Amino acid sequence: MTTNLQTFMDEYTPKINETLKQLLTKNENIPETLRDSMHYSIRAGGKRIRPLLVLATLKDLEVDSPDALLIASSIELIHTYSLIHDDLPSMDDDDLRRGKPTNHKVFGEAIAILAGDAMQTLAFETLADLPNTNSKEALELVRLLTVASGANGMVAGQVLDLEGEGESLSLQQLQEIHLNKTGALLSCCIEAGALLANLSGEEMKAIQNYAKHIGIAFQIQDDILDVTSTTEELGKDAGSDESSEKTTYPMLLGLEEAKQQLKHHHSLANESLSFLDNEHSLLKLFANYIVDRNF
Ligand code: IPE
Ligand code: IPE
Ligand code: MG
Ligand code: MG
Ligand code: MG
Repeated sequence: MTTNLQTFMDEYTPKINETLKQLLTKNENIPETLRDSMHYSIRAGGKRIRPLLVLATLKDLEVDSPDALLIASSIELIHTYSLIHDDLPSMDDDDLRRGKPTNHKVFGEAIAILAGDAMQTLAFETLADLPNTNSKEALELVRLLTVASGANGMVAGQVLDLEGEGESLSLQQLQEIHLNKTGALLSCCIEAGALLANLSGEEMKAIQNYAKHIGIAFQIQDDILDVTSTTEELGKDAGSDESSEKTTYPMLLGLEEAKQQLKHHHSLANESLSFLDNEHSLLKLFANYIVDRNF
């Protein structure tokens, strides 16, 4: 990974973790099991790509918002909730996540579902309470995140993903699933950052295009790693897609062609950033990281 991006990640990951911890502890009247379950999945870590992407977008667009960490963390809360639910026996039925037993394995299904629900609402509470953002922008952020994570975005993708198990899907159908289940929330990170910058219509389109292509690329790499990597390295069950008969890029196209598709979306993402005219763009480095990552 390029040193610049590594330095950025090393600087901001602890700040994101601290913000998440504060958000989880701000309400003292949470039942203990629920609190433990929420802390368990958040503390298990994860790469924090989504909140880092929000912060990277703000940096590239030279926006300085005192609420940046709160906005970034609200998206990580939605992401972590989606992982807890994604692992449930009724969904992907996985036992390991972020190097630890999945939430339902430790706390039971009911608490895992409820911890996901509570994280989701905490995300929106966080945006509604942003101390330094005007209410118009806060409302636009709420809207972005609800649309990205809801029935037209991530939830739609999860439904299509589950309904596609054991079915033979076309590449177009698979791309639609990827765009929704993973791309929508990743795009939301970029769009949330872009919303706070005063971009022209053209620039907004360009950055949305970047977001779309890194979203697809991210999930193609996730599918590839499911086949090529190990449970130990991933911290989650390798081979999970094959056991649940999911259609994935490597399954549909073969590993080599899946890697070509990854490269293709990577170049399209980077081309979209030409308007930035910034040799040190963190978003460019992020695109490289997303396709090169090995967990
Ligand atoms: C995994 O996301 C789920 C997908 C959307 C593919 P990440 O690979 O970002 O998971 P963490 O947050 O690092 O655990
Ligand atoms: C998960 O996709 C997408 C969401 C959680 C919304 P996957 O099912 O491929 O993610 P992993 O591989 O379990 O992390
Ligand atoms: Mg899944
Ligand atoms: Mg899964
Ligand atoms: Mg996967």
